[in-house]
Amino acid sequence: MHVLTVLDHPYPQSFSHATAQHFMAGAEAAGHTTELADLNTENFNPLWSMADIDSDGSTNIPPDVRREQDRIARADAICLIFPLFWWGMPSMMKGWVDRVWCWGWAYDQLDDPDLSLQKNRSGLLLVPAGARSDEMEEEGYRAALDTCWTKGTFGYFGFSPRRMEVLYGSTGSAPRRKSLLEQSYQCGLKLPPPAPA
Ligand SMILES: Cc1cc2nc3c(=O)[nH]c(=O)nc-3n(C[C@H](O)[C@H](O)[C@H](O)COP(=O)(O)O)c2cc1C
Repeated sequence: MHVLTVLDHPYPQSFSHATAQHFMAGAEAAGHTTELADLNTENFNPLWSMADIDSDGSTNIPPDVRREQDRIARADAICLIFPLFWWGMPSMMKGWVDRVWCWGWAYDQLDDPDLSLQKNRSGLLLVPAGARSDEMEEEGYRAALDTCWTKGTFGYFGFSPRRMEVLYGSTGSAPRRKSLLEQSYQCGLKLPPPAPA
């Protein structure tokens, strides 16, 4: 498979960067080719603007959006990696989702998250979070994010199979972080293929 990793974090020494490196190493060990979209280094413009409104999804597509869509077109599997910020996506990743997966290219049905215009791809969210798993589960954050991202967002992307892996306690001890990076490597190693159409 060709595996696209999309990363939002400005700091090369961050845990999110280490997560991306371990995930990609696992995917390569499984025999996959990999490609990294490092949104901050590449200076992606996350602001949804009139240029996006003026495009209908097939004409007038802004060149930076088109470049990301070409990347997606090459990929059989896509992994989004970003730190959990205020129980949501940081702005660069949010803007990448808003602008690149546009109406007319990604979806045209507003009522069914399983009616993507895109072919099936294998999808994974790898999300470092400061919180512990019990905190996130008891308060309902984990279930809310699963609904919004795994079903609501990855569904419209046409990702199947699709899942979210939260890397809980990513600001914790060195042994904790080491085990989370091993978990990221295993996610790359065991990445499932896209479901048959
Ligand atoms: C602006 C900001 C908001 C954050 N919000 C949350 C949050 O809502 N829940 C959480 O568990 N961690 C939160 N964190 C902690 C980050 O998820 C954590 O620092 C990150 O996963 C560590 O990885 P990094 O080295 O790649 O930044 C937040 C951190 C920042 C800087």
